Amino acid sequence: MSGTLKIGVLGSGSGSNMQSIQDAIEAGSLDARIVSVVSDVPDAGILRRAERHGLDAAYLDPAPFKTKLDGEAEARTIAHLERRGVEVVVLAGFMRIVKPGLLARFPDRVLNIHPALLPAFTGIAAWRQALDYGAKLAGCTVHFVDAGTDTGPIILQRAVPVLEDDTPESLHARIQTQEHEAYPEALRLMAAGRLRVEGRRVRILP
Ligand code: GRF
Repeated sequence: MSGTLKIGVLGSGSGSNMQSIQDAIEAGSLDARIVSVVSDVPDAGILRRAERHGLDAAYLDPAPFKTKLDGEAEARTIAHLERRGVEVVVLAGFMRIVKPGLLARFPDRVLNIHPALLPAFTGIAAWRQALDYGAKLAGCTVHFVDAGTDTGPIILQRAVPVLEDDTPESLHARIQTQEHEAYPEALRLMAAGRLRVEGRRVRILP
């Protein structure tokens, strides 16, 4: 990889993380280009946001699977990303498990953001899990994706306090403000070639 980093974003939701990455690019603080936005949900907000920024956006039918990207759907997605020259795959609210086929095609080049301080609170609605557990700190984690769920090597984390009167929504909103800084920051490191995966640890080169 050299020059401007070509990013493909996969998302199922509102796309605020994709937006934060595009905003950083447009502001000139991230040397990258989003060359493809793909959603498994036909009317997802992420597709509308992408179109507003003139980005290449597509719905790809994930059938017949409900919770994973596999088989023909995975092959179609890989081909779609390859045709657009994607170098790094960014999962931004993508509500499916990605399988070894995609990971093998983009080794150490699939990133995810998770709304908790991993390894605590993997899986769905992690902010609610943190609140229900009584944690005093919550946050987000940007990590490389491996074959597990929310288990890959950690690139960076940002913490936020859990406040006395928090609701799941207020805590999630506080976490998301950190997500919107953490994802562009992780991609800046990636674009600058400063991330090296050494086993479980990600070394950030000077
Ligand atoms: C974020 O909270 C992210 O951590 C989680 O899904 C949510 C996506 O939000 N994986 P958005 O679609 O980027 O707004």
